[in-house]
Amino acid sequence: MDFLGKLILAPLAGITDTTYRLLCRENGADVVLTEMASAKGLLMQPERTRRFLEYREEERPIGAQIFGASPEEIGEAAAAVSAMGFDFVDINMGCPVRKVTGGGAGAALLSNPGLAGRIVAAAVRYAGIPVTAKIRSGFGTEPATYIEVAGAVFESGAAAITLHPRTRGQMFSGDADWSHIAVLKREFPGRVIIGNGDVRLPEDAARMISETGCDAVMVGRASLGNPWVFRAMRSRLPVPAGPADLPSPGVPSASVRRALILRHGEEMHRRKGDAGIREMRKHLAWYSRGIPGAAAFRGEIVSVSTLETFRAAVERFF
Ligand SMILES: Cc1cc2nc3c(=O)[nH]c(=O)nc-3n(C[C@H](O)[C@H](O)[C@H](O)COP(=O)(O)O)c2cc1C
Repeated sequence: MDFLGKLILAPLAGITDTTYRLLCRENGADVVLTEMASAKGLLMQPERTRRFLEYREEERPIGAQIFGASPEEIGEAAAAVSAMGFDFVDINMGCPVRKVTGGGAGAALLSNPGLAGRIVAAAVRYAGIPVTAKIRSGFGTEPATYIEVAGAVFESGAAAITLHPRTRGQMFSGDADWSHIAVLKREFPGRVIIGNGDVRLPEDAARMISETGCDAVMVGRASLGNPWVFRAMRSRLPVPAGPADLPSPGVPSASVRRALILRHGEEMHRRKGDAGIREMRKHLAWYSRGIPGAAAFRGEIVSVSTLETFRAAVERFF
């Protein structure tokens, strides 16, 4: 699995489903990941949990992200996602929400480098595909632990580490401290380090690479309502990688924007019926950002509940 120079779509729970990921892939994201899925859930309630792991061939390369606090469960879950055909498996070591950390998983692993290492070792042993980990700078109640955690994780055979340089205690507030990414690259020079956090503007991906020396860049929130951001970022990378046939970047025309939004909603409706259309409300709010009249439009979105009302709203506003 080659991550070098790649732009990666971050896992965003409740957002980066198969439909969204494909739109980002088509617009310049080189690699995508599923949203996080519980290792325990995958073993105990496979039908329910597999919904989070639905993907299409066109999305490749794609990683499945799992979370858990037990090496045995992670090992079994890693084998299961490998059997589902994923290209790599990513272990979540950064999720700050109590439901996850309370059980010792997600960001709680930042306080327990030994367990983090054993979890990765179990995944490596049973997956048969590359294993990566996504970490934060630390839990926040003690000095940052990311160097120690990264050491344990690499020692256990991880192929790459993504660092989102905030502590668990920061949740999503304050600024991501990119200097931690540079430190990690210096500490582990031969290893693949993926930088993440506050990469917003088209020039930010190139800036993160030049400031930190990271090997690849992961982008989450900047893509919301703007999957085209990957094209814009790619065009500013020192060596623009990826499919050569991508049309030149720039602000998409109104018709390109409208066509993509319609496709997004139609595909959500095909997969999930009216529930998929209701999920589109948040995407419509994101797509409308920066367009005159967006505030009033957001007030109207609550009445979008069928494919017909969705289409009418898109035709009228975009
Ligand atoms: C709504 C939301 C959901 C998220 N879900 C996940 C997740 O499932 N797994 C994960 O590792 N990180 C998750 N994250 C963190 C992002 O992957 C990423 O690390 C963070 O947003 C910083 O990157 P950004 O500034 O490019 O958004 C989530 C973040 C947000 C805002």
